[in-house]
Amino acid sequence: MISVNVTTEFTARDAFRAVKRGDLIIVIDVLRCTSTIVTALANGAKEIIPVKNLKEARRKHSENPNYLLAGERGGLKPSGFDLGNSPLEYTREKIFGRTIVLTTTSGTRTLENSKGAEWILVGSFLNLNAVTERALSIAIDEGIDICIVQSGTDGRFSLEDFICAGAIINGLIRSNVNLSDSARASYLGFKHVENDLFANIMKSEHSKRLVKLGFIKDIEFSCRVNLFPIVPFYKGESITLK
Ligand code: MLT
Repeated sequence: MISVNVTTEFTARDAFRAVKRGDLIIVIDVLRCTSTIVTALANGAKEIIPVKNLKEARRKHSENPNYLLAGERGGLKPSGFDLGNSPLEYTREKIFGRTIVLTTTSGTRTLENSKGAEWILVGSFLNLNAVTERALSIAIDEGIDICIVQSGTDGRFSLEDFICAGAIINGLIRSNVNLSDSARASYLGFKHVENDLFANIMKSEHSKRLVKLGFIKDIEFSCRVNLFPIVPFYKGESITLK
């Protein structure tokens, strides 16, 4: 029986290591970038183009004025942007059929740093089972390993991504997988809090910051499990469901 090695990395810049190894990458940024991407695509956005910085986002938008300009800096919508980074903003009415240029502090950076990997999937609690099953089946078919790249917060480790990585690993261990120490630690962390995800994620530094900014509902929403059975793929310059 084929066995798949599973590991997890803790920050955006660690994505380069996963690319170098040739792993299938699952990018996660529970609060809030990948929760936003999954919600936008579930609600009918055509595609998301992730970019690293504000200048690049504004440039793309001025070249394509019909695109929606979206993202955050310091958690807040930058001036002149159509949308912030709150998944709850991405309603069907606002985004159905639209191309969205998205720039966030850590999440879109992780996505950009993952470029070069053959397979880049976007994960969150919202699409937990779908992304886990799809990643495993691709890894087995292609004979490659899996790395869950946690975006972290501003270049540092973050609790919510560590727990979400553990939730994905919890799904993967039903098959023949070998866990690295970081993957096993994430898995054990998740098992410890699985019956009370929201309360535990609320203790994270990033949650505390978001609560101060008035975004507690985003945290609550991002902790919902398996709301959307979809798998976003990042290929070329955009993220779509194909
Ligand atoms: C990020 O990419 O750093 C986050 O999504 C920040 C946020 O909570 O808006």
